[in-house]
Amino acid sequence: MAQNINVTSPEFDYTIKIGSGLLDKIGEYVPAAPSVVITNTTVASFYGKRLSQLLPNSSVITMPDGEQYKTLETVNGLYPELVTAGLDRSGTVMALGGGVVGDTAGFVAATYMRGVRFVQIPTTLLAMVDSSVGGKVGVDLPQGKNLVGAFKQPEVVIIDPDVLATLPEREWRCGMAEVIKHGFIADEQLLQPELWDKTQAEILIARAVAVKVKIVQEDPYEKTVRAYLNLGHTFAHAIERVSQYSWPHGEAVGVGLVAAARLSYVLGLCSAELSEKVEKVVSTVGLPTRIGDLDPAELFAAMGSDKKWQAGHSRFVLLKAIGQPVIAHDVEAGVVIETLRQLKS
Ligand code: NAD
Ligand code: GLY
Repeated sequence: MAQNINVTSPEFDYTIKIGSGLLDKIGEYVPAAPSVVITNTTVASFYGKRLSQLLPNSSVITMPDGEQYKTLETVNGLYPELVTAGLDRSGTVMALGGGVVGDTAGFVAATYMRGVRFVQIPTTLLAMVDSSVGGKVGVDLPQGKNLVGAFKQPEVVIIDPDVLATLPEREWRCGMAEVIKHGFIADEQLLQPELWDKTQAEILIARAVAVKVKIVQEDPYEKTVRAYLNLGHTFAHAIERVSQYSWPHGEAVGVGLVAAARLSYVLGLCSAELSEKVEKVVSTVGLPTRIGDLDPAELFAAMGSDKKWQAGHSRFVLLKAIGQPVIAHDVEAGVVIETLRQLKS
């Protein structure tokens, strides 16, 4: 039976539905036609035809697959397709895919005709536990990740764990990066490998989603505690950008968590044991813990365009203990670069 998690947001309340077989019941949960499903070429090859049959009055339009297409150029190409599909202000945009599709389609939904209804149908573990919840949508600029965006709450989030059957193993691990991030921020149980069993994905997803829901309800517009969800992300976004997105987001978050924990230790915020525990959990999940051939100084320079930094002053989410994230301001460049240098091998 599906689990429902209700979310209170400043605009309206919505439900996150989690359950096996929900995709086949999609017509029951989404607003009446007209609607357009935005997906990508890969996800369309698995689920596009099925969705067209389930929603006969909807058009399915595809964008190319990859973070490098989470851009204004892609958005610009999608708008005329919505016009051609006859989507008017009473219509709904549905995102069927991972975080890239969700962020891009959400930005389209937030801006097309000054905003139409939006539904999230996440198909990666990462999108299920993180990006489909909380309303952040947007695209990247050449200067940095997620630099153009909006808050656009979904009417409903439909999570059918059955679609994870086609998800590559590497992408499952990427999703686990955000699961363990939620564990370090607020729920130590999520760090127990017994909970990571794919056959029980529904339980894992519900528990990880609950962490995010609690935080976004308290601080929907990231004035305070929502920033904690960015643990590891200042490092991660720099890694993604410097590597020209050859590092997937989840892998960059994995090593970003290790870097944040090490920096926390170096700054005297947490114990060596905690820093070692973060590294062990990241490595047990199967995510990278080292930056490889990336240049620490170049990574630090790339962090300068992080939108979480204020007037050029560094701002990192760090950890004092499990369940106790903190924000550190104005960390010296040399300390950050040295922390990254130690993650070269
Ligand atoms: P992604 O969207 O690129 O998906 C990963 C890969 O899996 C893609 O190749 C995709 O085509 C494929 N795929 C998706 N579902 C599949 C399925 N069921 N079967 C087979 N293949 C499938 O990556 P992601 O990890 O889902 O999302 C990363 C993005 O999310 C980044 O852009 C990141 O910045 C963003 N993000 C946003 C938020 C937010 O709050 N808005 C939070 C976290 C991450
Ligand atoms: N992924 C961070 C947030 O939603 O705030």
